[in-house]
Amino acid sequence: MRKYHLLAPGPTPVPPRVLEAMARPLMHHRTKEFEALFEEVRSGLSWLYQSEGDVIMLAASGSGGMEASAANLLSPGDSALVVEGGKFGERWVEICRAYGFETDVISVEWGRSVDLGEVESRLRAGGHRAVFVQASETSTGAKHDVRQLAEVVRRTSPDTLVVADAITALGVYDLRPEEWDLDAVITGSQKALMLPPGLAFVWLSERAWAVAEKAGSPRFYFDLRIERKSQAKNTTAWTPAISLVEGLRVALEMMRGEGLENIFARHARLAGGMRSALRAQGLGIFPRDLLSESVSAVSVPEGIDGKAIPRLMQNEQGITIAGGQGHLSGKIFRIGHMGYVDESDMLAAIGGLERVLSSLGHELEKGAGLTAAQEEFGR
Ligand SMILES: Cc1ncc(COP(=O)(O)O)c(C=O)c1O
Repeated sequence: MRKYHLLAPGPTPVPPRVLEAMARPLMHHRTKEFEALFEEVRSGLSWLYQSEGDVIMLAASGSGGMEASAANLLSPGDSALVVEGGKFGERWVEICRAYGFETDVISVEWGRSVDLGEVESRLRAGGHRAVFVQASETSTGAKHDVRQLAEVVRRTSPDTLVVADAITALGVYDLRPEEWDLDAVITGSQKALMLPPGLAFVWLSERAWAVAEKAGSPRFYFDLRIERKSQAKNTTAWTPAISLVEGLRVALEMMRGEGLENIFARHARLAGGMRSALRAQGLGIFPRDLLSESVSAVSVPEGIDGKAIPRLMQNEQGITIAGGQGHLSGKIFRIGHMGYVDESDMLAAIGGLERVLSSLGHELEKGAGLTAAQEEFGR
């Protein structure tokens, strides 16, 4: 028998209570019962987003939420400024090009956070309808400071919209869409929300809703105007992912029980413990500027087969972690510490990693990682 640990930076583990809720006999969505469920979930999402504004739920993975925000806010030929510092920054570029936007790309070295001076000078050239950015770039483990970025935008080009992919940020660290004056904030169900993949969430500012009324890109399934009207009446335009919504009610209830501050503190503590352990194991943390609390990206030591690390973690330790994406394949590996995870999960991963690294020939002091993590957790 082997106990399975899912410590990828998404999907993340689903709590038994949430699984149970999703296993109930299916209710129909055009009923009072579903409306009551949806109302409760909408209020939970407002709490999570720290905003009274509408959070639109879509039956899609996170990329669907990204596409929906682009399609609803820009028109073909509009100019988009995109921060590209990893795989998901690349996704913004691909979406913007697919929709025919003039795409001005700030290429950030993967693992670094965007230089806000560069954002400012690009904006000074003028004409950008929106800036697209990741709050947490899961592929590199780096964060971009969306709060400060929004300040730069408001100072330099007040009408430019700030569109933040917060798929591995919302519910992980304190991110305040309304207070920080962001315009679109997207997340997905399979990360901090502790659900299987299949739901995307999009919050828009009132400024962005006004733009969405007139934007000229083709949109149908992802027309947020239609969804906003339906969801205000506690229903959805199309058939919702009913079982996931049932699970979401319980996940949000669990999150509210823990409290936002405690959730953020837990993620920070787990990230801190994991990083102390990794350093004690003689490993280097890959990102160089702002580290995301949701994932630790680790440089593969010289002379070690990087692709073997996630493979052996999975096959020999029963622990799922992730490798690098794009040109970082084989060069980094990534351990998720987001959602339904606690200190014992971290210790399992650190212990498993010690055995895998030793078997691959990396020299380390036995137990040093576990000791470092426990010291950090005990603070
Ligand atoms: C930062 C970020 N953006 C976008 C995505 C894409 O989301 P999905 O795979 O749910 O479409 C992910 C998924 O890992 C992500 O971490």
